[in-house]
Amino acid sequence: MKSDSKRLPEGLRFGPLFDEAEVEMVSEVVRTGRLTQFSSDLVNEFERAFAAYVGAPAGIAVNSGTAALHTALAAAGIGTGDEVIVPAFTFIGTVGPILQQQAVPVFADIDPQTFCLSVEDTARKLTSKTKAILAVDMFGHPADLDPLRELAAEHDLVLIEDACQAHGAKYKGVRVGNLADLTCYSFYESKNMTTGEGGIITTGNERLAKLCRTIRHQGEENWGIIKRLGFNYRMGALQAALGVVQLKKLDKFNEMRRERAAIYTAALSDLDLQLPGESPDVWSVFHVYSFLLPNELAGRRDEIVQRLRDERVPVGVAYPRPLYASPVFASLEGPFDCPVTEDVCSRVITLPTLQSIPVETAELIGEITRDVVREYMR
Ligand SMILES: Cc1ncc(COP(=O)(O)O)c(C=O)c1O
Repeated sequence: MKSDSKRLPEGLRFGPLFDEAEVEMVSEVVRTGRLTQFSSDLVNEFERAFAAYVGAPAGIAVNSGTAALHTALAAAGIGTGDEVIVPAFTFIGTVGPILQQQAVPVFADIDPQTFCLSVEDTARKLTSKTKAILAVDMFGHPADLDPLRELAAEHDLVLIEDACQAHGAKYKGVRVGNLADLTCYSFYESKNMTTGEGGIITTGNERLAKLCRTIRHQGEENWGIIKRLGFNYRMGALQAALGVVQLKKLDKFNEMRRERAAIYTAALSDLDLQLPGESPDVWSVFHVYSFLLPNELAGRRDEIVQRLRDERVPVGVAYPRPLYASPVFASLEGPFDCPVTEDVCSRVITLPTLQSIPVETAELIGEITRDVVREYMR
């Protein structure tokens, strides 16, 4: 137990950072009673603003990141039996939509430093049935997009980027958003910018953009003319209202996330831990801060996490096991051969970087985490 000066308050919970601008904007939507994509112009306005921000010609707003990924896969023509290469180290929202399309996720390993899809393992797992590569910008660090795009071009595959954790992140000086065929974002409450629930697809491909718009709204192209099966994945005007305001603050929020990450790095750098960094050509937006314990502590990770929670540190484990270990994937045939993923899952501990965490609290989180982990390293 820590002395009171080093004690975090009980029941710490950090949410999004709003001010009167969001309250005003949402109130205005409620006053007008125009709540949908069809009755309000806000969804269009938000799509245009977000696409411009990431440097993409088109943005298609939807009601979650999962919906964005599902719409992207459907627009790319991924269907029954098609193989999609995807990292084994990610959130289910990346991979669930592949199953929804009756397609087959082929799990590939990750890079041991960035935790993003391994280009080598992706190349190794290509087959004649591969139709797409779905790369994830893990924890705000862009995947290695250039070689993945080359691989996709060479084998006539669609490259889809899951940037659900990477709004505003840069790869070789350029914001992600038009570096893959389709890029998908989430605006869930904990993301670097939020609309509560929400998502968007950005693309430079006009044909795919048009398909995404049709699929998001029931497959209907013109009133009463249903070209194909779609979904109701539309974003509402209340979400778009939040999005318009939050987007203006995104650069500041990303700097704040990076500042909190730097605080944790300063606190933990004396210990023998693998701390998150950035590839030389990358500007990460540190959606969270996931570090690795040394090998010899892998078996005690859950115990250490519990100790941190006892000290009120708002700690998580992203992610505790490879996705293929979940029962929903039981029908897939192994072996999956993802040793880096297995290793990272056994040693990872995740600290929050939310912009609503006060700097002094982040400093305390860093200090207490260091003290607790150091006890186990003796
Ligand atoms: C990597 C990744 N993919 C997909 C998703 C799904 O987004 P959503 O929760 O908005 O459906 C998330 C968000 O939690 C995510 O972090």
